Amino acid sequence: MSLTRTKSVEGLLKQAAESQGLKRTLDAKNLIALGIGAIIGAGLFVRTASASAEAAGAAVTLSFIVAAIGCAFAGLCYAEFAAMIPIAGSAYTYAYCTMGEMTAWTIGWALILEYALGAATVAIAWSEYLNKLVGGTIPYEWCHSPLQVSPTGVHGIFNAPALLILLLLTLLLIKGTEESAKINAVIVFIKMAIVILFIGLGWQFVNPANHVPYMIPDGVVGHEDFFKHGWGGVLRGAGIVFFAFIGFDAVSTAAQEAKRPERDMPIGIMGSLAVCTVLYILFGHVLTGIANWTDFADPAKGKEASVAYAIQNFMPGYGWLATLVTVAILAGFSSVILVMLLGQSRVFFSMANDGLLPKVFSELHPKFRTPYKSNMILFVFVGLIAVLLPGDITGDLTSIGTLFAFVLVSVGVWMMRKTHPNMARPFRTPLVPLVPILAVVVCSFMIIGLDRTTQVTALIWMLIGFVVYFGYSRVHSKLNA
Ligand code: ALA
Repeated sequence: MSLTRTKSVEGLLKQAAESQGLKRTLDAKNLIALGIGAIIGAGLFVRTASASAEAAGAAVTLSFIVAAIGCAFAGLCYAEFAAMIPIAGSAYTYAYCTMGEMTAWTIGWALILEYALGAATVAIAWSEYLNKLVGGTIPYEWCHSPLQVSPTGVHGIFNAPALLILLLLTLLLIKGTEESAKINAVIVFIKMAIVILFIGLGWQFVNPANHVPYMIPDGVVGHEDFFKHGWGGVLRGAGIVFFAFIGFDAVSTAAQEAKRPERDMPIGIMGSLAVCTVLYILFGHVLTGIANWTDFADPAKGKEASVAYAIQNFMPGYGWLATLVTVAILAGFSSVILVMLLGQSRVFFSMANDGLLPKVFSELHPKFRTPYKSNMILFVFVGLIAVLLPGDITGDLTSIGTLFAFVLVSVGVWMMRKTHPNMARPFRTPLVPLVPILAVVVCSFMIIGLDRTTQVTALIWMLIGFVVYFGYSRVHSKLNA
């Protein structure tokens, strides 16, 4: 049994052609909307302030640029795969065809960090903004993890709102997602409108003094570490706000439904990335201009629900905007959680179909035709994480898992050019191997910039994955048949 055995691409495409065809209804515009629906969320509305407070200061705008460059290179690689193997399952499926079972497993396992922990992170952020909306009336201990302590010394016990939103969305997923495309379009519109409104109205309240110095200078107490000030801080900030870009790869999972995947996939992926990058840079500029980055480190000030804090405290007369933004953010976060839970159950579904995970993950509900058992197991797993851990920890783990998957996908494009040189490539990543190499380099730098605890935890997670692979998956793989 070889560790590098692969599934054949030809077989996979045949299987897709034979399976009940999904309708090809999406054009480039729809794909861009899908991407933005999955992208704008807690990364922008919560992690921007965290990155600024922890490492980058006002230069969080530069962090966005670094993260966007890494995503653009990796996005070009994703686009080649998405157009060539237009099948659901994303990076996991690509790897199974190109780099072999063990790498596919590794990516699938890393994607759990991306999707499951990503969903938990956004659920935790949802809880923060809900509490803001109800005027901070939820007792601290019931909306924070046991690892958090309030400025007045109250210990968190259990993040109940995070669990609630996960439960509601899990139930929705089990029931089916036919309406979700329409709801998604409305939410995308609301999210974009709110971001643009905040940038437009907030611009006049930017206090230039908050942007000086732009990066956190050397010598600030608590920021001695290389990755907590100056350019090192910008790099760590990039790893943190990278979270805000996660989701553009979700466009690739809709490849089977694209009208002209060869043209529309790259436009969908790169288009949604481009729109978000511009909005993020402007948003970061305005947020760190309205409130000082040091406020975002202070639990008594803007550490939580940073955008609402900035509006309420520094934009007199715009109280209504804070409420509107909060409601929109709650809706926006819900759509991101939904996409993440959906993505996770899809990856589990593919892995279980391949025999790498137990069959329970691919069993469909008799009436709703959704993988309901998988959804329920996922709810327990994601729920436990969301209830017990703070968002900074889960957010950074999400970033690192996704960055790792990006690295492997980029290597995969290059390898595939060598192993399957003649396969039809409706979209070709430009300048191979330069673009994949640059993707690997920029994403690896962001991994290195993240903090040590995150790196070690991710490593332990991957080691557990290998134990499961050798203990279960390798033996049960359908490739043994
Ligand atoms: N990009 C998504 C967000 O920021 C994951 O919430």
